[in-house]
Amino acid sequence: MRTERKGCILMQRYELGRLLGQGTFAKVYYARNIRTSQSFAIKMIDKDKVFKVGLMDQIKREISVMRLVKHPNIVQLYEVMASKSKIYFALEYIRGGELFAKVSNGRLKEDVARKYFQQLISAVDFCHSRGVYHRDLKPENLLLDDNGNLKVSDFGLSALAESKRQDGLLHTTCGTPAYVAPEVIARKGYDGAKADIWSCGVILFVLLAGYLPFHDANLMEMYRKITKAEFRCPNWLSSDVKRLITRILDPNPLTRISIAKIKEHSWFKKDFVTEKIKSENESIPLDCNAAFDCLESNEAEKKEGRHDSLKPIRLNAFDIISLSTGFDLSGLFEHANCRSEARFTSSKSASAIISKLEEVAKLFGLTVKKKGDGVLRMEQYDDSRMVDLSIDVKLFEITSQFHLVEICKTDADTLAYQKLWNDYMRPALADFLSPLQGDHLAS
Ligand code: ADE
Repeated sequence: MRTERKGCILMQRYELGRLLGQGTFAKVYYARNIRTSQSFAIKMIDKDKVFKVGLMDQIKREISVMRLVKHPNIVQLYEVMASKSKIYFALEYIRGGELFAKVSNGRLKEDVARKYFQQLISAVDFCHSRGVYHRDLKPENLLLDDNGNLKVSDFGLSALAESKRQDGLLHTTCGTPAYVAPEVIARKGYDGAKADIWSCGVILFVLLAGYLPFHDANLMEMYRKITKAEFRCPNWLSSDVKRLITRILDPNPLTRISIAKIKEHSWFKKDFVTEKIKSENESIPLDCNAAFDCLESNEAEKKEGRHDSLKPIRLNAFDIISLSTGFDLSGLFEHANCRSEARFTSSKSASAIISKLEEVAKLFGLTVKKKGDGVLRMEQYDDSRMVDLSIDVKLFEITSQFHLVEICKTDADTLAYQKLWNDYMRPALADFLSPLQGDHLAS
């Protein structure tokens, strides 16, 4: 697998810099937009690994929500891009590092901790109101910007939550459940909102105490403490905040305090400023197709002279994500009057594929019509000039140099089609088309 390195140019737009973070599914790199010099954090997710966890639908749904949200305390998702093996997220770059680096120098004063907690609750409340739950709120997801404001990262990507090595004063072993709600540990069906509130409570405790509320060298003992909410507030905490923490770290999600009630709590309300949140309409819409509007495609088209009358259908990042082994492709490839017989990928340009298809079709006595919508219709006539075999070849553009080609039998005797396709056309196209991996149709 190709590895992205420092200095690499991604999608002709982003120059990659140093590695900011790494996990099982993803790596995060610093990146700079070549044209504007704006800084970004590029999160690269390994598609194969993601498919294996079977959470594509949830991720797609949540990303589609996140593309619309803009909140001052949430790391903004600007763009989703994709290649054959990776999904790329261009995220707002947050300069100030992790919030918890601050706590490793000692616990925070209540007023300082309150400001971060208020910002955390604002972000969480905002996402919950849009049906998005984080499920993995933990120190490395809390960053600070240049102005010392909290930014929560990975909202909407939490289905990819993973165990990460954690080091430093406040963290314990690999994949610590320290921030995870008891009902999540118990693997019961759980309410995402209540689980996030619990994690916020653990975060608040750590900010104020400088250590974790539930900790034990023995993991089973730690689980037990979490399940029973067995913790003690340090004596330097005000009774007001002790009461709030106790209401949040309630092991029963049904009686645990809600966000609405946290916002009414006297400790929380002190000096609380509600920031103006841009309305969804004002926020930057995420254009997945823009991922493929790169210079590369324009230049390749110019160089090769695109077939004007036949433009391949562009697939967006989510369609591409769907092109996975074992994924149900039926929605993507359902067309009226057309039975999909085989699917292939090609690393050639659209014009090159079309020219080759025309050449091969003519070689075997088929006439070719460009039907628009990325469809090339190939027909064979009988002696009385009646169509006796008709095949549609549909072209989907993934990038300018990577296409999906679908073969549909529109009107043909199956045996005649199979003979023509398998014995003649497919071998002639072998250098151009590779069977789509995992596609049972492409056999
Ligand atoms: N590490 C992970 N995500 C980041 C981001 N958005 N900005 C800076 N560092 C990060």
